[in-house]
Amino acid sequence: MTKGKFITLEGIDGAGKSSHHAWLAEALARRGQEVVLTREPGGTPLGETLRGLLLKHEMHLETEALLMFAARREHLAKVIVPALEAGKWVVSDRFTDASFAYQGGGRGISVERLTILEDWVQQGLQPDLTLLFDVPLEVARQRLNASVELDRFEQEKQDFFQRVRDAYLDRAARFSARIRVVDSTLSLEEIRAGLETLISGLLGSNKTI
Ligand code: TYD
Repeated sequence: MTKGKFITLEGIDGAGKSSHHAWLAEALARRGQEVVLTREPGGTPLGETLRGLLLKHEMHLETEALLMFAARREHLAKVIVPALEAGKWVVSDRFTDASFAYQGGGRGISVERLTILEDWVQQGLQPDLTLLFDVPLEVARQRLNASVELDRFEQEKQDFFQRVRDAYLDRAARFSARIRVVDSTLSLEEIRAGLETLISGLLGSNKTI
């Protein structure tokens, strides 16, 4: 039986991943797939309420991590798992790698503690493919300055984003079969050509299931 695939998009703030989110869904739909486009934190009514708190409200760093995973539990139960079981493809703007990068690398929560939450919430489910949009900090910062109002994370200092980027790249090296690093300094056309190839690979592997 055909089962859907789960794709996640990651990167530091300003890396440009959001410009590819909807395009990726359209590219999959053009190939005949039913696609659910979603995001984290968020993706459900409760998750979006938690997102509002997480992006605006000051809180203890562990509260922040727990709320990220609480929103994720709801997202998995109500949206991601039902869609995958129905054979749909799920494209999420951020998922658990963001928690390891921001709450882990950025805020300093240990990988061991985050892994406990990951195991609890995901029960073994992992994305089939994660696209890590990577840019040097200066490029990301320039892109961010263009946006009107910066949220709690976007207001962080350069060294915070350096740790977030390093944590993302560490995970990409550790989970190289799942996480593909996309050079986000390339043109939109070049990036899309690369993404087309990756999708075709995933679609090809789908047929053998
Ligand atoms: P983001 O996708 O950057 O939203 P927008 O493009 O609208 O600014 O996500 C919001 C922020 O949430 C981002 O700065 C990273 C942060 N975040 C975490 O710190 N941990 C997580 O687990 C997730 C999913 C997001």
